[in-house]
Amino acid sequence: MYKILDKLICLKCKGRLKIEKNNYLICKKNQKHIYNINNNIFSFFHKKNFDKHWSENTNTNLPKSKINVAKNFLTPLIKESSYQKTILDVGCGDGVHASVLANKKNLNFKINYIGLDISKVALSLTAKRINKGHYLHASATSLPLKKDSIDIVISYGVIAYTQSPKKTLREFYRVLKKGGKLGIWVYLQPKGFKGVIFNFIRKITSFCGDWATYRIADCIVPFLSILPIDSKINLTNASWRQCREIVLVNIQPKDLILPSQKQLVDWIKKANFKIKKIKNGKVYALKV
Ligand SMILES: C[S@@+](CC[C@H](N)C(=O)[O-])C[C@H]1O[C@@H](n2cnc3c(N)ncnc32)[C@H](O)[C@@H]1O
Ligand SMILES: [Zn+2]
Repeated sequence: MYKILDKLICLKCKGRLKIEKNNYLICKKNQKHIYNINNNIFSFFHKKNFDKHWSENTNTNLPKSKINVAKNFLTPLIKESSYQKTILDVGCGDGVHASVLANKKNLNFKINYIGLDISKVALSLTAKRINKGHYLHASATSLPLKKDSIDIVISYGVIAYTQSPKKTLREFYRVLKKGGKLGIWVYLQPKGFKGVIFNFIRKITSFCGDWATYRIADCIVPFLSILPIDSKINLTNASWRQCREIVLVNIQPKDLILPSQKQLVDWIKKANFKIKKIKNGKVYALKV
């Protein structure tokens, strides 16, 4: 039987963990290493990164276009699977991939879903979308998971926000089982005129407070239908708030590391993955 405790490790000493009184995890090697459990979220992280973003941009109903993009992304990863698979969704956000997996019919295998995010608010949104998942409040750069414990790692639009995308990819490699699959999407550094505008806007918002950044995002929202954005969200298929959320994740975070495709390939190869397919920042790779 699948047990999440068989996969978790203490971040401080790599020891095994056990649950005490249903409300905290305690390290078997050193009893001073304790991690809280609140509302089924195991907490390995103490800061509030991205909480404000997800509190202010909660979308109960996910836009159809976002769901379709998530379906396309997941298809190559789950079509040939069988038996029981553990899927780790790193930077699960408000749970679009969890929602697609929860609604997948005719799968010939059982999914054990683990959602991980640096934001507890995001995790509580994802938890509403999928039954019986496990939720880890942790950073992608330091996963509280044993090596060789996961069948599929997905991470859509996340590694660019982590302190070190290279370290994050090494963590994905460590926790995947041999033969395990990786699926990521990274927003690549836009080129040409689009790149100049994008970098200019990010430069301005780096000096702005939240209020001004929201107003700049509001000015961009009406143009989403003519901007080539991956999620295909615009005012014809999503609400103003949903459109603004997509703009904000790109212009608000101060530290975004957007690679070129060449750089991305380099990072993935250096983490030891074998690339199966790569297109426009979407990468499928294997741990061989
Ligand atoms: C652009 S959103 C993508 C969310 C989701 N994957 C999706 O496709 O809608 C980026 C997500 O990464 C999370 N994030 C940022 N830095 C992170 C880190 N170091 N570790 C884990 N999650 C992180 C944010 O909280 C946010 O939920
Ligand atoms: Zn420990």
